[in-house]
Amino acid sequence: MQEMDPVLSALWHPVALSSSLGDQPISVEVLGVRAAVFRTARGVHALRDLCIHRGVPLSLGKVKGDRLVCAYHGWCYDSDGKCVHIPSLPEGAAIPSKAKTVSYACQEAYGIVWMCVGEPIDPVPTIGTEGLRADFAQVYMGPYEVAAAAPRVVENFLDVSHLMYVHEGLLGDSEHAEINDYRVHEINGALRTDEIEVYQPDPDGRGFGVTTFYTYHIYHPMSVSLTKRIQGSEDVFHLYLFVLPHSKEKSTAFMIMERNYALDEPNETFVSFQDILLEQDRLIVENQKPELLPLDLQAELHLRCDRLSIAYRKLLQNVGVTFGTA
Ligand code: FES
Ligand SMILES: [Fe+2]
Repeated sequence: MQEMDPVLSALWHPVALSSSLGDQPISVEVLGVRAAVFRTARGVHALRDLCIHRGVPLSLGKVKGDRLVCAYHGWCYDSDGKCVHIPSLPEGAAIPSKAKTVSYACQEAYGIVWMCVGEPIDPVPTIGTEGLRADFAQVYMGPYEVAAAAPRVVENFLDVSHLMYVHEGLLGDSEHAEINDYRVHEINGALRTDEIEVYQPDPDGRGFGVTTFYTYHIYHPMSVSLTKRIQGSEDVFHLYLFVLPHSKEKSTAFMIMERNYALDEPNETFVSFQDILLEQDRLIVENQKPELLPLDLQAELHLRCDRLSIAYRKLLQNVGVTFGTA
């Protein structure tokens, strides 16, 4: 845990969709820490992904009852990481007190499995300010693995003036590239922009060109959202992004989209559209230099339309995020 980012290590990070964690363990990497995440009747658990006996990843093992059984010699670990059975020991022999591994806080919320490698500051991971809305239809998108630093991925999501170029013909039009002036407000510890007008040839994959109004939110360094309001209607679309930093230059983006319109449209319409957008963004974020997001505002040039990126970099600087930043 040396050099562990003190801010990010206290946050809940998404490690899997609940629907993808079955009865066998999976291996995840959070802030450089490898964990075996598994499900028992009592819930989800995470242990350091290394058997104390001969260094085999516990994620290669099997879940039996409420234990995780190592694939190599069958040592059984409980969800606290304590070795509770060693098959090769004679009946009644004591289990060495050192036979244990590290356990991490792990829980499920909003259809996602979350893990914290340190002491979590919040009892539950936050999702927006009010959580998912019961009267909206939700769609899970991704998760998308990206070979880029997590703060680069988050900042790309918050960057409005790339829509007209990276996503031209879909989320923007280079003939309508001007960005209205907007401010960034701090409300109850979260950041929120004013509305930003964007003309979109195809705002959601259904192919209808409209003028939209974007409001961005930053809840914490790896959790942000955008609200898209469609001009002249009551239609609203929220897109939540949670980025899991695996290593300094590798991350995974989890996204939940929710909307109060087109409720009968199949999820596939929105998911395949997001898959296209993600590939367009990937080309950019995987090639940006420097790889780590520079927090020194003198390091790059900023325009008025980059106010939100500036606010994001300042936030990372103020809270002291070091992982994935320069
Ligand atoms: S390496 Fe895990 S039981 Fe031997
Ligand atoms: Fe994008």
